[in-house]
Amino acid sequence: MPSEGWVVWIEGLPCSGKTTLARTAGPRLSALGRPVEVLDGDEVRKLFSPELGFSRKDRETHARRVSYVARMLARHGVYVLVAMITPYETSRQAARSTVGDRFTEVWLRCPIEVCRSRDTKGLYRRPAGTAGARVTGVDDPFEEPLAPELVLDTSVDPATVCAEKLLAYLAGHATQSPVLAK
Ligand SMILES: Nc1ncnc2c1ncn2[C@@H]1O[C@H](COP(=O)(O)OP(=O)(O)O)[C@@H](O)[C@H]1O
Ligand SMILES: [Mg+2]
Repeated sequence: MPSEGWVVWIEGLPCSGKTTLARTAGPRLSALGRPVEVLDGDEVRKLFSPELGFSRKDRETHARRVSYVARMLARHGVYVLVAMITPYETSRQAARSTVGDRFTEVWLRCPIEVCRSRDTKGLYRRPAGTAGARVTGVDDPFEEPLAPELVLDTSVDPATVCAEKLLAYLAGHATQSPVLAK
């Protein structure tokens, strides 16, 4: 029987560096001998929830779908890196209770001014209230996370350092994470 995996739930404002952290940490986890999957918000939304918008209710529904799949993968030994804005605390708590103990919430706490200056997708340039998607940080709030295990500031630490800190955190929980314990 494979031992269980782990879910790392990476949350933060648009352009806080979620995708970058998942893509940087992923190969490092793989190198430790773990199967790794990345569930990236932008990608999975098109596949899992094409009918959903960006209202609070729709975002919560989408997060529930992602957490369910993450749990299924983790049950079979996969280290799942979820990269999703997850602006509402209710969604984070729901994900945690869906997944159970083997769950690490990582908040990329990057000042909104820095996120806005990165603006790789032009989201912050859109005037508030533009038709279509409601944008977190423009139209909608990002609620401050209440119980993240790890807080990383991507305006201070480059992606490689953030990835190292994440792996060090996971290794520090080695009693529950045998492969990372080596
Ligand atoms: N730790 C970091 N330090 C500096 N720049 C970063 C860091 N992480 C991400 N970036 C840059 O910020 C921009 C947005 O990153 P991205 O990972 O796409 O954010 P998100 O997935 O949260 O929207 C990219 O140009 C990326 O290179
Ligand atoms: Mg992204």
